[in-house]
Amino acid sequence: MTDEVSGDLSARVGESSDCLVRTDRLVARRFVPSDVDAALAYLGDPAVMEFIEPCFDRARAAEFIKAAGMAPEPLVWAVELRSTGHLIGHVIFHPWAGSTAWELGWILRQDAWGKGYATELSAALIEYGFSQLGIGHIIAEAVPTNHASIAAIERAGITRSPDLDKDLPVWSIHNQ
Ligand SMILES: CC(C)(COP(=O)(O)OP(=O)(O)OC[C@H]1O[C@@H](n2cnc3c(N)ncnc32)[C@H](O)[C@@H]1OP(=O)(O)O)[C@@H](O)C(=O)NCCC(=O)NCCS
Repeated sequence: MTDEVSGDLSARVGESSDCLVRTDRLVARRFVPSDVDAALAYLGDPAVMEFIEPCFDRARAAEFIKAAGMAPEPLVWAVELRSTGHLIGHVIFHPWAGSTAWELGWILRQDAWGKGYATELSAALIEYGFSQLGIGHIIAEAVPTNHASIAAIERAGITRSPDLDKDLPVWSIHNQ
């Protein structure tokens, strides 16, 4: 499928299910109001938020989950460990502003780093986006000094694409 149809199909993401993707160890699902405290544990952590935004307080976390995570077409999806049911972060997956591409990103609790979870989610979302949604092109953005993010992006097979740079450097992968 081509980029031209991805806009039409985007409305179908998650429409029939609260689950975006499921992997061996993880599930990416819709946020629910009771996620606020578990989300605050990472959205309020200065190490996690170093390259993102100032740390969230509880009110900001609740507002974010409602606006970005519980919208009819969410911008972010809760990431849960299947073995425990615990929230370990969220994945960003939505149409990229002003483009037919979709953006991919992750924000995980510190104790979930170094376990390959971002890599596992990326593989599942790239496969889902290309084969089920007909997305032509997925991008990721990173602050140049966010080496963990850049490593995760490149581990997912998403390659540096300076021609797409906006405010931040951009990496991209095309549906072959
Ligand atoms: C960006 C972020 C998600 C990357 O997390 P990460 O744990 O480094 O990335 P991955 O989940 O792909 O894990 C890869 C690491 O796990 C290790 N690993 C362990 N088991 C693995 C497995 N089964 N598969 C792949 N890697 C595995 C790898 O060796 C690698 O470690 P290394 O970096 O020491 O070589 C994390 O640093 C984060 O949440 N940062 C804060 C938020 C942020 O800045 N997000 C990016 C902007 S949206």
